[in-house]
Amino acid sequence: MALSSNHLLGLYDIPVEDIRLILDTAKTFREVLERQIKKVPTLQGQTVLNLFFEASTRTRLSFELAEKRLSADTINFSKSGSSVQKGETFKDTVNNILSMKVDIIVVRHESAGVPQFLTRFTEAKIINAGDGRHEHPTQALLDIYSIEEKLGDLKGKKVCIVGDIAHSRVALSNIFALNKLGAKVSVCGPLTMIPLEIQKFGVKVYHNIDKAISENDVLNVLRIQLEREAGFSIPNLREYREYFGINTERIEKNNKDILILHPGPINRGIELSSDVADGPYQIILDQVTNGVAIRMAILYLLGTKN
Ligand code: CP
Repeated sequence: MALSSNHLLGLYDIPVEDIRLILDTAKTFREVLERQIKKVPTLQGQTVLNLFFEASTRTRLSFELAEKRLSADTINFSKSGSSVQKGETFKDTVNNILSMKVDIIVVRHESAGVPQFLTRFTEAKIINAGDGRHEHPTQALLDIYSIEEKLGDLKGKKVCIVGDIAHSRVALSNIFALNKLGAKVSVCGPLTMIPLEIQKFGVKVYHNIDKAISENDVLNVLRIQLEREAGFSIPNLREYREYFGINTERIEKNNKDILILHPGPINRGIELSSDVADGPYQIILDQVTNGVAIRMAILYLLGTKN
């Protein structure tokens, strides 16, 4: 089987069969990661450019490791320290790197639409590693893989995305994919952090975190994104923690069997208390491990596609 597109730009218009293919392929690569020699020759001879215009720890390292596990050659670009700082344009930067012969570009950019823009002037296969507030498809796929690893098929499972939905690319990608896979999706947060017409995407809205905890199987808790103006949506962080912060007392009062995810990085003591961030309900580091397998699957499926 093959993916229907040469790129992974987002999960809004991807067929559900493609999502299942990526999740199933990731299972095979997850097993490779448990072997003593965690490497396969699949992408030998292919060159991957990691084009990062925005900060990243997990996504960038995870992609780089996935590329190395598949035996691809990798080159890494970050905005800081590059000639962008001398005034070189985005397009000139990319065209110069591409003339070194690149097959796949993994791109993160602060502006929505940059991965799509790249498809207009390059022959390379494009993977979106997060574009502005738009989408972060590989994060949503690793979230979904991690939920299914613990709870089985998502169909009918109740998944609530908590926090700063308005500024979040992770939320949108999760909503699109969870809906396609038959989960019951909701969001929870202050009125100012929930987009006005979010219900059009088929999600339920909570403004009460205790109710969200008691009625859902999974909470995917997002970071308050102070760098994306989230600070203007709430009076202060102390108040956010008081009304929406997840702590053990709150979980145990409402629902003992809940599964907690967080894409990272965490604002410890704000959206998650430290006892939850390190405690028995969360699978945060499992998400990171599964992220390598998901990214291997996507690189493999695109890299071997004609
Ligand atoms: N979850 C995530 O995208 O983390 P990074 O910003 O560290 O890549």
